[in-house]
Amino acid sequence: MTAARKPRKRASKKRSTILAKAVRQPTRKSAPVSKVHAANDKLPPPRQPMRPRRGGTDPGPRNITLDRQNPDLFIPPKTDAGILPNLRFSFADAHMRLERGGWTREITMRELPISTNMAGVDMRLNAGAIREMHWHKEAEWAYMLYGRARITIIDAQGRMFINDLGVGDLWYFPPGLPHSIQGLGPDGCEFLLVFDDGSFSEDNTFLLSDWVKHTPPEVMAKNFGVPAKSFARVPDPDQLYIFAGKVPPPLNRDRVKGAIPTPLAYTHKMMAQKPIKTKSGAVRITDSSNFPVATAIAAALVEVEPGGMRELHWHPNTDEWQYYIEGEARMGVFGSTRNARTFDFRAGDVGYVPFAMGHYVENTGSGPLRFLEMFKSAHYADVSLNQWLALTPPELVEASLNIDGKTVKALRKTKAPVVPV
Ligand SMILES: [Fe+2]
Ligand SMILES: [Fe+2]
Repeated sequence: MTAARKPRKRASKKRSTILAKAVRQPTRKSAPVSKVHAANDKLPPPRQPMRPRRGGTDPGPRNITLDRQNPDLFIPPKTDAGILPNLRFSFADAHMRLERGGWTREITMRELPISTNMAGVDMRLNAGAIREMHWHKEAEWAYMLYGRARITIIDAQGRMFINDLGVGDLWYFPPGLPHSIQGLGPDGCEFLLVFDDGSFSEDNTFLLSDWVKHTPPEVMAKNFGVPAKSFARVPDPDQLYIFAGKVPPPLNRDRVKGAIPTPLAYTHKMMAQKPIKTKSGAVRITDSSNFPVATAIAAALVEVEPGGMRELHWHPNTDEWQYYIEGEARMGVFGSTRNARTFDFRAGDVGYVPFAMGHYVENTGSGPLRFLEMFKSAHYADVSLNQWLALTPPELVEASLNIDGKTVKALRKTKAPVVPV
């Protein structure tokens, strides 16, 4: 809003009045116009929650930034109906745990109550910083968002795996197996972690220092065959979890001599996979068929060009947990019995689709859209609405939807995950 300002009066004032004002007011002449305000001034006026013959203006307090980011929540499509629960939460709204060496934030059932079977963590490790050696009951699947990292894991047969990862690479740690993560040079890393339990919390893992701290020194001495004082200076678990460290030497020099390697790799280069391509985008699917250790979590990396859409589909096996990497999108979800809702997403947001609910994800931005779909399953599976209708006897489809033969003929017998093809 740019209301016309009244011209200032230039009336002469007494010296005492001027001095009194100088005490009450900040000394600067006028507030500088911030870049944010300048950018907001260029935006069109905020929309009102109205459709023809529906709604009204919103004259009360408003968070216009959020209204603008969630147009389909603020003015839902006419087709939205019913009482589907919230299916979106942004990492920007999650508590940030700042540590000596990085930070972490998580979206679990506490933040997004519908996400009962998966939870996610966004973590940053500075160069050399270490996520403390630990294990947990849940499977851990990770996607590298930035930089480089080194991971280690040992299996129950005492075989060791160590590897370096870059952007677009994955790791998978089976439940119960102990592991570590370290940021490499030049600037550490950021990654997304996904766990196969919605109630998982990074704050509730089995930490190495925690166990040592809660074991009698004489037991430690007997176990390792060393003097009890050897463990006298183990830091408090509160000081570790994520802590600063030195960038390790090159991978080959960091391998322990005599360690037997694991038969399977615990890392995978997702971006090196040949994608399923259409005119409007690409999909890479990673599950236990091409990343054999990943037996509890399957994933798809979806890229959608401007104007494109991840087609109407659903998953016949389990819920979908999404993470938006780049761009802007809207997702419509059909939850049966006249329930449908639409949510808007951008980089850093998490979406959720409960088991079997129909959905689409449309690129609503001017640039590419990239997001991850994760599933608590050994195998990726989806059903395409288009393919289902195309392969069903046409008379049946025509009668069901009251559509003509020409429309049925336009249906596609092969699956195209991103449309238009
Ligand atoms: Fe972990
Ligand atoms: Fe999906």
